[in-house]
Amino acid sequence: MSLIERRNAQSRERARRGLLIASFASALSGCSGVQSALDPAGSEAEKVATLFLVMVVGGAMAWILVVGLLAHALNRNGPALDEKKAGKLIFWGGAFLPTTTLAALLAYALWLMPFLRPWSPAGATDTLKIEVVGEQYWWRVTYLLPDGRNVVSANEIRVPVGERVTFTLQAKDVIHSFWIPPFAGKMDMIPGRTNRLTIEANRAGTFRGACAEYCGTSHALMAFPAVAMEADDFRSWLDARTVPSPNVEGRGRDLFLSHGCGACHTVQGTGARGVIGPDLSHIGSRLALGAGVLEISQEQIARFISNPAAVKPGARMPAFGMLPPDDIRAIAVWLEGLK
Ligand code: CUA
Repeated sequence: MSLIERRNAQSRERARRGLLIASFASALSGCSGVQSALDPAGSEAEKVATLFLVMVVGGAMAWILVVGLLAHALNRNGPALDEKKAGKLIFWGGAFLPTTTLAALLAYALWLMPFLRPWSPAGATDTLKIEVVGEQYWWRVTYLLPDGRNVVSANEIRVPVGERVTFTLQAKDVIHSFWIPPFAGKMDMIPGRTNRLTIEANRAGTFRGACAEYCGTSHALMAFPAVAMEADDFRSWLDARTVPSPNVEGRGRDLFLSHGCGACHTVQGTGARGVIGPDLSHIGSRLALGAGVLEISQEQIARFISNPAAVKPGARMPAFGMLPPDDIRAIAVWLEGLK
């Protein structure tokens, strides 16, 4: 082998190794992140992740055993087994072993199931309840406080760390599925039916939930930030949402009302009481616009008002691009200020 050939072979080997390491790294990095079931932040998700690990390890061990036996059989020299020995091998290796292994994995999975849908104790009135309704293509969110007050929000879920929260899940139009992978498994939202899902976040952080059932054109654009907050922070966040935003006055409000936005949207402290679209009372303090699609900024809000369908195909909100640009801008500035 010439020097050049040797160098080429070495660099090919280095590239191959680099590729291998990169693919392992990217495979592992897929396990973490804001929307990963393998990077749990809730007690239900932790059990799901453990189940996944047990199944993967169990499956890998069975695979290694089978492939090892196959390799052994292919390399084996010598006389064939007599009929009695072959029968024993088939019974123990082909029937007994797979049956016990699969039965053990199944028993473990069945044992785990009650923990994955932990209802709040019957009659418990102190658990926080959050009502979520799936719409095309956004989330109507109502916090039902133990004292009877309701806080209406949209496209963002916030929960306290270390407390059980019960979600009641419904759908307005078609089937959606509510899924915050770091907190728990998914649950369908079905028109005409109420499903429940109870979760308990066990560490603070900002995560991402998404619709997990194809529901139309913008299914892939139906997500939401899911925030787990320390209990005290959560209470003060919630309290601040029981009253109108301090920045509710302004020219933007007058334009919002005179252009008829209040027919579909509610903004606390104004005459806007529409319930067709998302509640916008504190939209400026949310982490995303348009159900996890855009960041909250004056520019993006103006963009959404001008032509929602350009951002979100199939959105029910009509385009308001015909309004004077200055009016759109003023409304966007006002909305962004509603914290
Ligand atoms: Cu809603 Cu997919």
